[in-house]
Amino acid sequence: METLPIGKAFTLLEPGPVVLVTTNDGRKDNVMTISWTMVLDFAASFAITTGPWNHSYAALRESRECVIAIPTVDMLDTVVGVGTCSGRDTDKFGKFGLTRIKAAQVRAPLIGECLANIECRVADIVERHNIVVLEGLAAYLDSARKEKRTLHAIGDGTFVTDGRKFDRREMMRSKLPDGV
Ligand SMILES: Cc1cc2nc3c(=O)[nH]c(=O)nc-3n(C[C@H](O)[C@H](O)[C@H](O)COP(=O)(O)O)c2cc1C
Repeated sequence: METLPIGKAFTLLEPGPVVLVTTNDGRKDNVMTISWTMVLDFAASFAITTGPWNHSYAALRESRECVIAIPTVDMLDTVVGVGTCSGRDTDKFGKFGLTRIKAAQVRAPLIGECLANIECRVADIVERHNIVVLEGLAAYLDSARKEKRTLHAIGDGTFVTDGRKFDRREMMRSKLPDGV
């Protein structure tokens, strides 16, 4: 997995993929599935919607760290499996055969099977709306990976994946940050 400049990390989340979020509560690693994500600005600021109904939330609140890992379409059953059981009673890394890779700046692990990973610090928690604001610290991309299509949740238990890519980079030049 190669390093991706942190200024490009927003391009991983802007298309709205379903993500896996890893945490470490000081004793154990855990992972949950999140489809409600948002980019807040170009400088690697993101938000996810989650709350105390998930076991991961306590680790997010206490450690103030996590990793956003971006799975691909071939991982659909893992993504749904991870999101339908809990770290309260399940070792999800073992159950789903996920490979932990040590992160550089946070205790939560990267996921080796994923296309990309973003190490994050919890910058804020807006409890009234169950919004966790994250600051990206480091990003990685497995550009050698053959399957690069990510998953998008419809919200009713069905999913779609990426289709054709359109290039309007020249037309959008004035709106794109430097280096993107
Ligand atoms: C496709 C999918 C998307 C999900 N998106 C979210 C989400 O955006 N926010 C959330 O709080 N839970 C979401 N979940 C539910 C959590 O992943 C689920 O409650 C999980 O069991 C939490 O794990 P934990 O208890 O180990 O933290 C989603 C589940 C699936 C299958």
